[in-house]
Amino acid sequence: MFPTHRPRRLRSHPQLRRMVQENVLTTSDLIYPLFAVPGESIANEVRSMPGVYQLSVDKIVEEAKEVYDLGIPAIILFGIPADKDTDATDAWHECGIVQRATTAVKEAVPDLIVINDTCLCEYTSHGHCGYLQVGDLTGRVLNDPTLELLKKTAVAQAKAGADIIAPSGMMDGFVQAIRSGLDEAGYQDIPIMSYAAKYASAYYGPFRDAAESTPQFGDRRTYQMDPANGKEALKEIELDIAEGADMLMVKPALAYMDIIWRVKQATNLPVAAYNVSGEYAMVKAAALNGWVDEQRVVMETLTGFKRSGADLILTYHAKDAARWLNG
Ligand code: PBG
Ligand code: ZN
Repeated sequence: MFPTHRPRRLRSHPQLRRMVQENVLTTSDLIYPLFAVPGESIANEVRSMPGVYQLSVDKIVEEAKEVYDLGIPAIILFGIPADKDTDATDAWHECGIVQRATTAVKEAVPDLIVINDTCLCEYTSHGHCGYLQVGDLTGRVLNDPTLELLKKTAVAQAKAGADIIAPSGMMDGFVQAIRSGLDEAGYQDIPIMSYAAKYASAYYGPFRDAAESTPQFGDRRTYQMDPANGKEALKEIELDIAEGADMLMVKPALAYMDIIWRVKQATNLPVAAYNVSGEYAMVKAAALNGWVDEQRVVMETLTGFKRSGADLILTYHAKDAARWLNG
């Protein structure tokens, strides 16, 4: 018996395939991460992330112009301060590195959306995402005292011109704390993109090279989620929605596509997927060896995130993807 139903009928011509394509990646979906360092004319390539650099503020501004010209609507800024301490001073100080980079970018490219990652691990001497008990060598971050610092950090970032605040530390109640801090300071209109479901992942390794934020002892398992858990992600997003989040993020992306899908089904808020540093490093390593076709692998992966429900994708491939999309 020959088949009656022939799905291949709709695959017979490129135009026909284009007509029945269900998901389309566009440059509007992309968010490009950048790492700011003190100094001038600095561009240090990150060892484990070919094509990604720690950039001084003047270089960040150049990069922001390029990103904007490629049609990418937003960047997210991370900072590597000159000095780190137990109070994460550079995170919330008005002269902090991210605050300076944010103001400079908004001045030069006002229509580029600047997202600020709101966490403390890049600024603490021990590399954890908040306050530790004096003498603690396990990394059990103190939740509520940390909320106060996060609030201060978010307000400083808004004051510097940040368009979106993106808290990534996985502290309980951080969205509510930051929302009230922003509101009290007069920033009612600044949205919060919460890293709602963020897993304790080995895929962050290269980022920690870039941000020089590897914990000096212990790990992040008392605040980031267990990779084995799915329902817990729904609990986390439910809380963040109740606390006033405007957008939700799932991170990492590749090993967590089911979570992206479940979060998308569970909410009407925009969902972002963070295609993290380790995912980027694996593709770059294979591509540089000539083992995979970089363009095809990247476009397939990013389109896969869209299919799984992501409205937005934070990715180090953003500039390349935009170039390929723009033809
Ligand atoms: C900081 C933060 C991390 C990432 C984004 N914000 C790393 C971490 O938790 O150590 C990871 C991004 C990436 O791997 O690309 N809380
Ligand atoms: Zn952190």
